[in-house]
Amino acid sequence: MPIISAQGNTLECATGANLRWVLLQAGVALHNGRSTLINCRGLGTCGTCAVAIEGAASAPNWKEQARLALPPHSPAHPRRLACQTQVLGDVKVTKHEGFWGQGEAVQWSP
Ligand code: FES
Repeated sequence: MPIISAQGNTLECATGANLRWVLLQAGVALHNGRSTLINCRGLGTCGTCAVAIEGAASAPNWKEQARLALPPHSPAHPRRLACQTQVLGDVKVTKHEGFWGQGEAVQWSP
C-alpha cells in the first residue's frame, strides 16, 4: 500500500487512489485560502489543487497538461493537479503559496 506524506501526515492508500480525494479525506489543507470553497471539485479545470510531488504517480493526462500550461501556473514551477493524479507508490507532497498553489514559497511540506 502506498504511503503519502503531506502536511505532517502519513497516509496509507490503495494503489491508484486519487491524490486529491485521499488528502481531503485526511483533512490536509490541499486548497489555499478561498480556493477551499472556490474550486472545480476535482474536474481538473481550476488548477487550485496544484502541488509538487516526489514519488510514483500516474503521468499527467491531457486535462492536467492543458491546465498547467495556463497562467498563473508555469513550467518554471513544476506542479501536479492532485485531482488528476493517481498514487502508484510512496509520494511526498508539498504545497506552495498562492490561490492556485503557484507560488515559490512553501505553504506546507511533507
Ligand atoms: S480541484 Fe480544480 S483542478 Fe483540481
